[in-house]
This record gives sequence, structure tokens and C-alpha cells, in this order.
Amino acid sequence: MKHILTLALCLFSLMISAQEQTDNRSRRHRPRPQMMAPTLDVEGHHVNAHGGCIIAHEGQWLWYGEARPDRGFTSLGVNLYTAPIDSLPADASHPLQRPWQPRGLVLSVVDEAGSPIERGCIIERPKVLWNAHTNLFVMIFHLELKGRGYEAAMTGFATSSTPEGPFIFHHAQRPNANTWPEDFSEANIQKAQALNEADYAKWWTPEWRVAVADGLLLKRDISRGQMSRDMTVFVDDDGTAWHIYSSEENLTLQAAELTSDYLGYTGRYYRIAAGGQNEAPCIFKRDGTYWLICSGCTGWDPNEARMFSARNIAGPWTQHPSPMRGPNAAKTFGGQGTWIWAAPSPSTDLFFMADIWFPRSLSQSRHLCLPIRFHDDGTPVIEKVQ
Ligand code: GAL
Repeated sequence: MKHILTLALCLFSLMISAQEQTDNRSRRHRPRPQMMAPTLDVEGHHVNAHGGCIIAHEGQWLWYGEARPDRGFTSLGVNLYTAPIDSLPADASHPLQRPWQPRGLVLSVVDEAGSPIERGCIIERPKVLWNAHTNLFVMIFHLELKGRGYEAAMTGFATSSTPEGPFIFHHAQRPNANTWPEDFSEANIQKAQALNEADYAKWWTPEWRVAVADGLLLKRDISRGQMSRDMTVFVDDDGTAWHIYSSEENLTLQAAELTSDYLGYTGRYYRIAAGGQNEAPCIFKRDGTYWLICSGCTGWDPNEARMFSARNIAGPWTQHPSPMRGPNAAKTFGGQGTWIWAAPSPSTDLFFMADIWFPRSLSQSRHLCLPIRFHDDGTPVIEKVQ
């Protein structure tokens, strides 16, 4: 009995020290907020817009992002900051330092019990598009319902006739219920249909990985709709809009075509890097090639970026090494991508925007904004000198 107790105690302390090591490791890679310059608005406060996007409209930059509380993980809604497009950054090495005017919450959580955006929900990675057919600004975001952690994995839609809002919540859904991906042949569908979760109770085995790539989780969610967490949006040259999101328990990205009003799905969707565990997708197109920069899945902790390219959103996608260069490039300089900002400047046309998350006080999470440069063969490079 005594031996069993001693063994249990040893195991327990080993577990604790492993946890401490993990914590210390992640703390080492994540500088404290006071060690990094805040992005100040014109009132001198740190910009509380995270996982966001910056778009141009009528001479203004519109920066939409998660409005996070100082403590805790639930959402306040989506904040907007604006700055004149012709304003220059106060410091050329910090392209985000502009005279940002805080416009407050343009989408707010509500106190109505049962609403999908009831206070206590989680609103992440909001992206805004202007829709020429409806003349509306459409906000698309990752939504988790109150009290359900990250289980709901839904997409929320909201609209406004002006960029300053208020955006009115439209609806939330999981994409493409009862629809198989466009690139799934009849044989692929039959193979996926034969897969059962019960046969793969143990995750991360080689067989389980093959089954995930073959559609184990895709098939599980066919009737409920596909999971949609970390996300971005992209409007192609022909006007087709795409929603790209981490699906299938964050194991596979999906690119789903949006309807012409951007408020739903056409049913055409493709899987990207099935089983590759990619999050935080950011996308741009240059000289006919689509470039997708993602992170791995380590929650708020930074990890090495992944990069893919394709000549067609439908794929095939080719994986490349991370484009990050410089000290701490292997951890994406402590950040996780959120948006490719098309802001022509003497150094580049495109910037990679990322969040350096501070989960102890999410509102204090810092912003990273780095120019994207290109090798002669067109491959992107994102370098941070120090
Ligand atoms: C990250 C994700 C964030 C947030 C976080 C929660 O991986 O990119 O947007 O969801 O996990 O742990």
C-alpha cells in the first residue's frame, strides 16, 4: 500500500513539473505586454481590436477587431478604429502606428437570454466585406455560444448600411450541412461514409490520421454542418467571395464559397491540407497565385507558421517552408496571423498582421505588422529584423 502511495505521489509530482515546464516554455516565448509597444489610438489607449482586419473605404482605413475584456475570455463584441488612408505611420518600422480614432463597439453582445450573441459568448476573428449587390457591409466571424466553450464552432453574420455600424446580427450557422465537398468523388463519399468514430476512439494514431484525411470528422458533421473556427474571408478577382476556416476539430481547413449577398453558402466547398491541423488562415493573391499563411494549433501560444500556394482556390495546394525570417521566426515572432493588409507603401503593397496574445489580459494583446517581400520566383518572405 505504502509503495502504491509513493508511486502515486511520484507520478503526481512528475505531472506537475511537466506542466510547469510547459508553462515556463510558453512564457519564455511570450513577452509580457509591458515589454512590447502598444498600438495607441488618438486618445492614448492601446487599440482593443484583435484577430481583426483592416479594409479601405472612402479615404479611411477601417480596422475591425475583437473587443476583449481586461480579464476573462468572453467577448464584448467588435470594435472599430478608423484612420485617414493618407496618414503616414508615426514610425516607418511600425506601419500600424496611425492616428486611430476609436469608434467603439460596432457589434455588441446582447443581454437577451438565448440570443446566439448573448453576453458570455465568444466572438473571434471578425472580417468585414462591402457587398455591392446589397449595398451592405457584411461582418463574418467565428462564434461560440455562451457556456459551451468552443463546441458550437459556428459562423456568425451581421450587416450594417454604414461602416460605423451598428451591425445588426443576422444569423449564425455551421457551413454546408448535408453537402459533401466539391472535390469528393462518389468513391470518396462512400469511403467516408464507411468510417465510424467508434472505430477510432484513440486519436493521433497513424490509422486515425488517415481516417481524418479520408473524412472521418467531415462525415460526422455532415448533417449538423461543418465546424468553423479560426477564419478569414477573401474576394477573388471575379467577385466570388470565400470563407476559409479551420474545420473538422481544427484538423482541416475548408474554403467555402459565399452566396452573392455574403450571408450564406452556395454549397461549393473544398478541403485544404486535410489532417494538417492549420489555424489562423490569412490569404492573398499575387500574379495569379493564392498564398495561404496559417499557424499550427497551440491555442494562445505561438508556433511556426505554415505556408501553402495554389493556382486555384479549389487546389491542389502545395506546402512551402514558413516565410518568416529573423530572430524567433520559428515562433512567428510570438504572433499568430490574422490578416493580409493591402496598404501600398514604399516598402511593399502587403503587410502580414498578427496578434501576440496575452491570455491573462486579452485586451492587452499586441499587434504585429510586417511587410511581405518576395523572392524573384514570387515566394513571399516576412522578415523581422529584431
Ligand atoms: C487560438 C485561435 C484564437 C483563439 C484561441 C483560443 O488557436 O487562433 O483565435 O480561438 O486559440 O484558445
